Amino acid sequence: MDAADETTPALTTLLLYAGVIFGGLYFLRRWIKGRQFTERMSAKDKVAVVTGASAGIGLETVRELNYRKAKVYMLCRNEDRANEAKRKLVGCDPTRLIFVQCDLSSFESIREAAREITQAEQVIDILINNAGIMFYPKFEKTVDGHEMTWQSNYLGHFLLTELLLPALKRAQHGRIINVSSKLHHKSKKIDLTTVDDKKAFGMMQPYNRSKLANVMHAHELTKRLRKASVHNVTANSLHPGVIDSELSRHLPFVNKPLIRQIAKPITWFFMRTPKDGAQTTLYLALSKHVDGVSGKYFSDCKLEAENPVATDDAACEDLYNYSLEACGLQK
Ligand SMILES: NC(=O)c1ccc[n+]([C@@H]2O[C@H](COP(=O)([O-])OP(=O)(O)OC[C@H]3O[C@@H](n4cnc5c(N)ncnc54)[C@H](OP(=O)(O)O)[C@@H]3O)[C@@H](O)[C@H]2O)c1
Ligand SMILES: *[C@@H]1O[C@H](CO)[C@@H](O)[C@H](O)[C@H]1NC(C)=O
Ligand SMILES: *[C@@H]1O[C@H](CO)[C@@H](O)[C@H](O)[C@H]1NC(C)=O
Ligand SMILES: *[C@@H]1O[C@H](CO)[C@@H](O)[C@H](O)[C@H]1NC(C)=O
Ligand SMILES: *[C@@H]1O[C@H](CO)[C@@H](O)[C@H](O)[C@H]1NC(C)=O
Repeated sequence: MDAADETTPALTTLLLYAGVIFGGLYFLRRWIKGRQFTERMSAKDKVAVVTGASAGIGLETVRELNYRKAKVYMLCRNEDRANEAKRKLVGCDPTRLIFVQCDLSSFESIREAAREITQAEQVIDILINNAGIMFYPKFEKTVDGHEMTWQSNYLGHFLLTELLLPALKRAQHGRIINVSSKLHHKSKKIDLTTVDDKKAFGMMQPYNRSKLANVMHAHELTKRLRKASVHNVTANSLHPGVIDSELSRHLPFVNKPLIRQIAKPITWFFMRTPKDGAQTTLYLALSKHVDGVSGKYFSDCKLEAENPVATDDAACEDLYNYSLEACGLQK
């Protein structure tokens, strides 16, 4: 018997196994990355405002909106971080990237940013409330006296949304998008009397609470807009997936450089990239499939069920009233 006859079947088997393994890994990775927004929608002549534009999902959202020809206001709390971010936006048109200083943990800073934008723009087409902090380690109050995560993730965006709403209403199709999280499902009904109290604080609670409020806000805002006969502004929220971004910066264990190095291949394979994380945001900002859709919650570029608490009309209304007062917007 010839030696070649022995090796050929062995080689074929080996190649077959390798093919199956690599093919399997490829499709697993594709599945992990989630659905991508591939619709050929131009954002030419559109004005977009993105919070938390200096890193992660926000930065990738800015990149894609700019590629699609939108003018993008990058709201960042730190100018150095914003400049660093701009340098990463290779291939973007810098004349359509405008930095505006905005720290969501300060109502004054938000008001100043809104003033700057509305002085420059009559019309805003897209508002993306994306900035967020997670698992902030210590109980801390903002200059306005609210718990840090509650204001950074929720109240600050509430105020910004209210201040930019007149300009959004002037758009043909104004779209407000809230980057929430799947973790909002973990939150119990929000007790508005204790949100700023130390006894309601913990590693997890403020985050899922603030993210539930983002979803409730979309629900209530939709109701109010429709009641006021505004039909050209939509408001939706979403879960971006589990993304390898800087959001984990406050996690004590995960954030160690050594741990990050060791975990790198695992996170690289099993987590979504910030670009993947921007896909549902872009879908809600641009897709014609969501024209007129409002008050809903999305994940992976499709409709998902939200926490039932978020559709409790009375609770949503209560939250809205509370927020108007907390932001000094009482009418
Ligand atoms: N990553 C995930 O797996 C995941 C899952 C579910 C939901 N989300 C949501 O996705 C959104 C984006 O997160 P990410 O993953 O991209 O995180 P990230 O990489 O940490 O980016 C967060 C951004 O928010 C900004 N920011 C934080 N506090 C701010 C404040 N007080 N004022 C202004 N800007 C502030 C940060 O600015 P600096 O650069 O100055 O720090 C940064 O640009 C968040 O709302 C998060 O809750 C993420
Ligand atoms: C998003 O959440 C903010 C508060 O974080 C709220 O003011 C706004 O109405 C919400 N909008 C949408 C579209 O969910
Ligand atoms: C959007 O609706 C509001 C309220 O009905 C209206 O005042 C505004 O002119 C509309 N904008 C556009 C561009 O259609
Ligand atoms: C928030 O979510 C965490 C798990 O992610 C859970 O342990 C905690 O009880 C939740 N907090 C509230 C207030 O629902
Ligand atoms: C919210 O405020 C409005 C106007 O002040 C009031 O009519 C309504 O009853 C309030 N809703 C709740 C749930 O308190």
